[in-house]
Amino acid sequence: MTKAVRIEQHGGPEQLKLVDVTVGEPGPGEIRIRHHAVGLNFIDVYQRTGLYQLPMPAQLGMEGAGVVEAVGAGVTHLKVGDRAAYASQPPGSYCEVRVMPAKCVCKLPDAISFETGAAMMLKGLTAQYLLKRTLPQGGLQAGDFVLFHAAAGGVGLIAMQWAKALGVTVIGTVGSEDKAKLARKYGCDHVILYKSENVVERVREITKGAMVPVVYDSVGKDTFQASIDSLQPFGLMVSFGNASGPVPPVALTALKGSLYITRPSLMAHIASRSNLEEISGDLIKMVSSGKVKIEIDQRYALADAAKAHADLASRKTTGSTVLLP
Ligand SMILES: NC(=O)c1ccc[n+]([C@@H]2O[C@H](COP(=O)([O-])OP(=O)(O)OC[C@H]3O[C@@H](n4cnc5c(N)ncnc54)[C@H](OP(=O)(O)O)[C@@H]3O)[C@@H](O)[C@H]2O)c1
Repeated sequence: MTKAVRIEQHGGPEQLKLVDVTVGEPGPGEIRIRHHAVGLNFIDVYQRTGLYQLPMPAQLGMEGAGVVEAVGAGVTHLKVGDRAAYASQPPGSYCEVRVMPAKCVCKLPDAISFETGAAMMLKGLTAQYLLKRTLPQGGLQAGDFVLFHAAAGGVGLIAMQWAKALGVTVIGTVGSEDKAKLARKYGCDHVILYKSENVVERVREITKGAMVPVVYDSVGKDTFQASIDSLQPFGLMVSFGNASGPVPPVALTALKGSLYITRPSLMAHIASRSNLEEISGDLIKMVSSGKVKIEIDQRYALADAAKAHADLASRKTTGSTVLLP
């Protein structure tokens, strides 16, 4: 028997319960991994509340790092004893040990700790595919502006550093003065306090009227219109999350100025092993070189997953959060 955190039904953080489960042997294409750290992500909140529906009972969690304990038939890129980390479907990383598909699991270099591995995979792969694969027409050149919401969050702090490394100028939004300081420390060039400042006016002022060629918006409902209004003609609206709630249906006539809009997902970007290797290789390189530092600001025991969820959903966290089995 081993410990896992599961829900029996969608609802509040109190639905998360530590339970005993049995874990068997990996089948073809699977591995068994013993976690040293588990990553917490906002998608876990959507899956817990039911914004994203899951069959019940459900074991949450899409990110983790640990040691491979057993390997099923046909798995060639991992062996027993390997250090490994992943961002992967299906959910289930909130546990000590699990059997899971091997295809999204990557080897973790010795120089990267398990905590960092668990904190960087889902958020770091996301920052990579956003800033390097989800681009406005003509791409992004050094000196171009981007608007990135929730700049002091898990994805946000990684994206700030990655954007800096690419030479683009980031305008980041945050919910408090403390978060503003943190975002600046990690490379955010211009910070907007979106609870008290008018985002569109501040973007106009910062860009001297030019507005931005791309907005990366994971806040959703509360920021959608300001994001659209901050774009220059032919600009790209990247709606990649819904922390404040889902964006209501949008009329195409709202995309004035020949705007483009996309709703990307990490899982589509890493669906093929070759894409995963390219994107994760880039992430590992950025973290190993120190160009991207993974800021882990919260650590909770796995048994305290409910508290971790409550804190993430109420905007109390900054940077990445890990659960420790
Ligand atoms: N599509 C994809 O492939 C993909 C992949 C990974 C993550 N995501 C999305 O990226 C976002 C960031 O993920 P994360 O795990 O790194 O979370 P996070 O950014 O650490 O936490 C979410 C942040 O959103 C901001 N926020 C604004 N309004 C909010 C509200 N009403 N309730 C809660 N938070 C609110 C808060 O920052 P402030 O206090 O500064 O406003 C909060 O800290 C999430 O929306 C997630 O779903 C999407």
